[in-house]
Amino acid sequence: MVSKNVQDLMEKMTIQEKIGQLIQLSADFFQGDNVAITGPLKEAHLGEAALYSAGSVLGISGAQTVRKVQKNYLKHSRLGIPLLFMADVVHGYKTIFPIPLALGASFDPQVMKTASATAAKESAAGGVHVTFAPMVDLVRDPRWGRVMESTGEDPYLNSVMAKAAVTGFQGTLPLDQNHIAACVKHFAAYGAPEAGREYNTVDISEWRFREQYLPAYAAAIEAQALLVMTSFNTLFGVPATVNQHLMRDILRDELQFHGVLISDWDAIGEIIHHGVAGDLQHAADLALKAGVDIDMMSFAYAKYLAKAASLDPQIEQLINESAQRILILKEQLGLFTDPYRGLSTERETEATLTTENLDAAQAAAEQSMVLLKNSHHTLPLNTATAISLVGPVADTGDILGSWSWQGDPDQTETIADALAKQFSNFTVMPGTQYHHVQFSKLNDAVNASRQQETIVAVLGLPASESGEATSMTDITLPAEQLTLLRGLAQLNKPLVTIVITGRPLDLTEVDALSDAVLLAWFPGSRGGAAIANVLSGRVDPSGRLPMTFPRNIGQVPIYYNAYNTGRPISGTPADDENKYLSKYIDAANSPLYPFGFGLSYGDFTITDWTLSQHNVTPDQPLTIQATIHNSADHAGTTVVQLYTHQQVGETVQPVKQLQAFKKVSLGADQTQTITLTVPYDQLSTIHSDLHRSTDQGDYTVMLGFDSTCTASQPFTVAHQ
Ligand code: GLC
Repeated sequence: MVSKNVQDLMEKMTIQEKIGQLIQLSADFFQGDNVAITGPLKEAHLGEAALYSAGSVLGISGAQTVRKVQKNYLKHSRLGIPLLFMADVVHGYKTIFPIPLALGASFDPQVMKTASATAAKESAAGGVHVTFAPMVDLVRDPRWGRVMESTGEDPYLNSVMAKAAVTGFQGTLPLDQNHIAACVKHFAAYGAPEAGREYNTVDISEWRFREQYLPAYAAAIEAQALLVMTSFNTLFGVPATVNQHLMRDILRDELQFHGVLISDWDAIGEIIHHGVAGDLQHAADLALKAGVDIDMMSFAYAKYLAKAASLDPQIEQLINESAQRILILKEQLGLFTDPYRGLSTERETEATLTTENLDAAQAAAEQSMVLLKNSHHTLPLNTATAISLVGPVADTGDILGSWSWQGDPDQTETIADALAKQFSNFTVMPGTQYHHVQFSKLNDAVNASRQQETIVAVLGLPASESGEATSMTDITLPAEQLTLLRGLAQLNKPLVTIVITGRPLDLTEVDALSDAVLLAWFPGSRGGAAIANVLSGRVDPSGRLPMTFPRNIGQVPIYYNAYNTGRPISGTPADDENKYLSKYIDAANSPLYPFGFGLSYGDFTITDWTLSQHNVTPDQPLTIQATIHNSADHAGTTVVQLYTHQQVGETVQPVKQLQAFKKVSLGADQTQTITLTVPYDQLSTIHSDLHRSTDQGDYTVMLGFDSTCTASQPFTVAHQ
């Protein structure tokens, strides 16, 4: 339903003013006291009119700054249509939460929802109206740097997390002033670039796209995400940003998305490089016809739509539709009532970097760390233990990760400083930088460690080697860090390795050299304190892998919900006798650490599990009751995971597919019974006609603590 206010504005607006709403400019166009006539506007060959008719800006925040820019903008706006402020508030604004891949590892949607809601409250107080998040691209290739922004390789986990993120950012509609509009991205399948090379071709079948990649976008849209962002890549042979099948048939018609579709940065201009537009005018035409409402920084709409509209009524109609969707978004944000959304410096100060927010970021970090190895119960450490803390990430605030925009590494407590608050006797000796070792310093670190009981090495990559435009062909730790680790391992002392990373790495040698391996991701503003609490045992590590960790890069892409092939291995010695199987001659098929894997300080078993009935119908979901026991002498947390397999399908089916999970915390020797349900529709799959439906037949349900679980029971599915 279009409000009278929007209808009135549409009637009053000139075609140029409507086109203005479709233009997004970057912050530098609005910086400084005067408009950027000499700089960006001139370079873009745009006049001042373009500045004051642009519908939105990206990258400006701060209560005072936003107020000033909005006030100046409204002075030049003939109809008083407020400017829309958008930004990349991905895993925090000033209080930085762990990266989204880590939030996925929490296997707790409430953690994601809290992170997004906190980011919304802080950034709304900073004048942000729309965030370019959540990124829900399914990822299976650690060579691609943006895996850090995703919640991983699984369609179900990604869908659960996408819904939680949108609900956290937006709250319940209509938006209140502590919430912001979510822009789910990147539509679509940007996470599948060939060879993991950034911006590279994506060429997957529509069947696979619908089966694996589409569900999380659909979940975000079902959760009422108000915007969608197009992706840079091609899909089905056509660049996504001008792909009418993707944007009109699937996004608008099938998913019933009626919100604002924004291009990624200059994605419209890049259609020329893709070889699908002859020039910028052609690209503008294609993008508008595909339904792209806002042109982010290609200037194609600014330069060519007015002329196109004068020649073609269809173009004018499309401009009207886009302008109206943008005005409706501004209305949903309450901007026509209050263009400042209650902005004040006092409110911004009160809302940001509060103890509550920082505690929430710490709790998220504690919930997302993954204990990958813990031989001889090396962890947790007694706080009286004499520790040698070494490695390039031991004493730096560079633990916020990419897309932590307003976060400040210089104001971030280091792991060393956090440990010092709990461990009374430890030395700190980085020993090496990320990539450059001075052997004297390396030797100092090894020698300093001789005097201590236990060594804690903090290794990994800087935030600058994670995120957009950071594809890598080698996912092992830098050679210098491995040299340091080898030197430390020769001391034959308990060796704990903490890994700070935004992507799965080849940790094969790290695993062999270390007694314990703790994956801390980029843990955010309170990551140091969270790591200290896990090392000391105050907190039980409960993260589980949202993405498979390969033995080596040669296995990539490797993911748990793969298809059986016609020559599967059996996992028995017989495999060695038979050469003609789907395997390698130089490595195992299995990963180093599988999806869903993670250890805890507890000792958990599933003592009993039953199905409420063995026949699932549209009215009878699959319902499992399971009794979990913690036999350890201290509390712990685990994640119970339910997978299913369809024995026979019209198309091939994954050997197992995650369908439900539940995080369970138990005290020493405590038992708890949980219930997990899987609705009939959730068992649906994509058929060769590309339609989704649930097949009747025989299925298997598996229950365990990671994707290698084998305990199974049969069930059947019937249509009634
Ligand atoms: C970048 C990213 C996108 C981001 C946008 C605005 O290129 O692809 O995720 O939201 O530009 O910063």
